[in-house]
Amino acid sequence: MAYTQQHHLVALFKKIGITSERNLENKKILDVGAGSGVFSLLMYKLGATPQNFYACELNPVRFEKLRVLSPSSNNYLGDYCSLQNSNKFDLIFLNAVLTSVVNFEVRAKIIKKCLDELEVDGSLFIFDYYKKGSPLKSDHYRALDISEVMQHTTQGDFCIKKKLRIYLNLRLGKLLSLVHLDFLIPLLTTFRILNTNVGYLVITKKSSGLKHNE
Ligand SMILES: C[S@@+](CC[C@H](N)C(=O)[O-])C[C@H]1O[C@@H](n2cnc3c(N)ncnc32)[C@H](O)[C@@H]1O
Repeated sequence: MAYTQQHHLVALFKKIGITSERNLENKKILDVGAGSGVFSLLMYKLGATPQNFYACELNPVRFEKLRVLSPSSNNYLGDYCSLQNSNKFDLIFLNAVLTSVVNFEVRAKIIKKCLDELEVDGSLFIFDYYKKGSPLKSDHYRALDISEVMQHTTQGDFCIKKKLRIYLNLRLGKLLSLVHLDFLIPLLTTFRILNTNVGYLVITKKSSGLKHNE
């Protein structure tokens, strides 16, 4: 799974002009709902530096793990919505955060705050389950509607790219993880039914002119 996430992340980075590790070195990056910090390690591998990496996590147990895993980054314990922050960021990540927030008003607040904190030419990456065939419907999780995110982008100058249906159907995931990647990727590409609506939505803040590309 981590491999496929990395693979698609790198492909999307290229689309926004990040083509080498050196491009990430000086980027100011925020990971909202960072959990135990595993994502920070992936980002360091791709060239990000802990000094420019900011992570915010609500859950104290996960935050403690994050602090141990990534001690040199700027780590904040608490609700992102109440975080007083004067920074603007080149890259902001919401990795599997929004679908675990079932209250739509809170979700909207998080999305809006992320967009407000983007630098011009900065990008917000939302990696999550999206509606339409997503198995994620329960009292604890709600799949994301693309329009739920898009409604916050109509006020400003944003360009939207998305890469969906790229990950494994959860039920088959364990079984297929035994298949070698050389076979797995073509298998998933050919048989779309094995995939679910999980993927990245990337929103880039432009300096001028409305641009909505899907
Ligand atoms: C499903 S986990 C994903 C963790 C991590 N991003 C990952 O990909 O492994 C969602 C995380 O978002 C955190 N979270 C939810 N709402 C938050 C908020 N308002 N502020 C900060 N963290 C939040 C939760 O505590 C949880 O750790």
